[in-house]
Amino acid sequence: MRAVAAEAFESAERSAPPVDATGEPGEVRLVEWLRESDAVDPDLSLVADADGEVLGHVMLSRGDLESDEAPAAGTGSTSAQEPGAGDDPVAALGLGPVSVRPDVQGRGVGSALVSEALVRASGFGYDVVCVLGDATWYRRFGFLPAAELGIGSPDPAWGSAFQAVRLGDTPEEGWPRLGVFRYAEPFARLEAAAARETHGTARPR
Ligand SMILES: CC(C)(COP(=O)(O)OP(=O)(O)OC[C@H]1O[C@@H](n2cnc3c(N)ncnc32)[C@H](O)[C@@H]1OP(=O)(O)O)[C@@H](O)C(=O)NCCC(=O)NCCS
Repeated sequence: MRAVAAEAFESAERSAPPVDATGEPGEVRLVEWLRESDAVDPDLSLVADADGEVLGHVMLSRGDLESDEAPAAGTGSTSAQEPGAGDDPVAALGLGPVSVRPDVQGRGVGSALVSEALVRASGFGYDVVCVLGDATWYRRFGFLPAAELGIGSPDPAWGSAFQAVRLGDTPEEGWPRLGVFRYAEPFARLEAAAARETHGTARPR
């Protein structure tokens, strides 16, 4: 999984800067941190393989929808800390990283991984999946600019590249403003580490 992430992001158009002496793209470390964290249910970390070789993988991690409105008495922001979607009114996941070995890209592996991840997330009772990435790729899975679903971006500068998709039979209309999506802690750790290394910023993909 780690090797595939390294190969995929080393040859990607965009990747997070290295955050340690390995010089590998930051996404490699992110994959490791996510695997160690309790934000990733093993059932939502998927690998595509052929003849025992890993061709690609995708991860979904639990995030928070943080209210950006003054909370009413006795209420707080929504949160999904326990495995499964839990009792949150709207349970949200962040998608990524997704990586496919460069020599097998363009053969449907990435699409199969993302599609299966969304099916599983829905099966586990999650309502929405958020992603930062190329809209021309994610549109085919039903992702829309997150703002259209009432979800604020962790970084307003991401604009419509921050996307979301509703799962299952959640109604198309009438969703209230849900709040601002916050990725699981390892994403913030990556951003902080990248900022330290480069005085720039790293972004979840
Ligand atoms: C992005 C990635 C996971 C796609 O996996 P894949 O197995 O090559 O994808 P598929 O074969 O299922 O789909 C290929 C389609 O996706 C498009 N595509 C692939 N990568 C893309 C990208 N970064 N941006 C936009 N479109 C992309 C291809 O042009 C192709 O389009 P078509 O079906 O219209 O011909 C893979 O290219 C990868 O690992 N890239 C490096 C890591 C990366 O950038 N990951 C984050 C993506 S936001």
